[in-house]
Amino acid sequence: MFVLVNLKTYPCDPVAVAEAVRDVNETTDARLAVAPPATHIERVAETGAETWAQHVDPIEHGSNTGHTLAEHVADAGAVGTLINHSERRLKLADIDGAVQAAERADLETVVCANNPAQIGAAAALGPDAVAVEPPELIGTGTPVSQADPDVVEDAVDAAASVDADVSVLCGAGISTGDDVVAAGDLGSEGVLLASGVAKADDPTAALEDLVAPL
Ligand code: G3P
Repeated sequence: MFVLVNLKTYPCDPVAVAEAVRDVNETTDARLAVAPPATHIERVAETGAETWAQHVDPIEHGSNTGHTLAEHVADAGAVGTLINHSERRLKLADIDGAVQAAERADLETVVCANNPAQIGAAAALGPDAVAVEPPELIGTGTPVSQADPDVVEDAVDAAASVDADVSVLCGAGISTGDDVVAAGDLGSEGVLLASGVAKADDPTAALEDLVAPL
């Protein structure tokens, strides 16, 4: 299972969480990665943790003040990027452009979507993976795998019907190893989570709990 920890702009220490991700990754067959704010990608990547961007813009080098260029996050040490997170929504054409920008910079891509219908559309753009996250469950601590298992199964079917090579992740409210196992049982190949680790008093313990049953 792929466990991608999105730090959003939570008031945690991204480097300390990244060190925990790196260390716990050594103890498990699961694949752990961390997505810090863009400003912290370089310092986080230097820890040795697998580092992702939270967003890239559909742009090339040029006059794009205030934008995030895929090549820059790759140079800073990111190996992948989220695109179209629920808190950083893009228009369809811009999702397509961001996927192309990320591919140009050799970044792995996870396109997020609210529901199975959007997952089908996202999968058609040819990312490496899609992630279904019902917005109403984000940050609630109520896991999507329990609260809305159908949305995960339907997302898996929707992606498979478009492109069998696109992996499906799920997220929202995931915070325990049982939640991760339940996500896997529903056909998900990984989870996207944030508050369960970024807001934990002890991120290492939270990560250990997440991967314990894997
Ligand atoms: O990107 C992960 C996310 O939106 C889920 O957040 O806090 O419910 O794990 P959370």
